[in-house]
Amino acid sequence: GAPVEVNISKIEPGQMLRVEWRGKPVWIVSRTPEMITQLEKHEGQLRDAGSEVEQQPSYAQNRHRSIKPEILVAVGICTHLGCSPQYIQDGFDAQVEGVPSGFFCPCHGSKFDMSGRVFQSVPAPTNLVIPPHYYIDDNTILIG
Ligand code: FES
Repeated sequence: GAPVEVNISKIEPGQMLRVEWRGKPVWIVSRTPEMITQLEKHEGQLRDAGSEVEQQPSYAQNRHRSIKPEILVAVGICTHLGCSPQYIQDGFDAQVEGVPSGFFCPCHGSKFDMSGRVFQSVPAPTNLVIPPHYYIDDNTILIG
């Protein structure tokens, strides 16, 4: 499949943009400063906080699992059986106490943080996949 070019200049903090790449949904989320700060607070509740399992390019093996801390690019497919998780910007703490935002898979209840890292005690075995991507310029990402 061809790489997909995405203009991210209009994504407000907290918003998600959905695009398609190789027939898969890809999410681009602009994380707020609070979302970025939160990432280190709940790492004890994650299955693979350090992204040891290769679900991302090496440049995204970090806490934010991205090139820029404020922009998440992730494949929006649950690593359990392939459903599409929901982005919950506010109210995720109904799923994980003390964590305001995240992704919830309605099929069997898997939970992921704002880096797509999977929480413990859910069916999904691994973090969400981060696709290869890079910045052509500040406002343009090439996925693939
Ligand atoms: Fe997401 Fe099963 S497919 S929890």
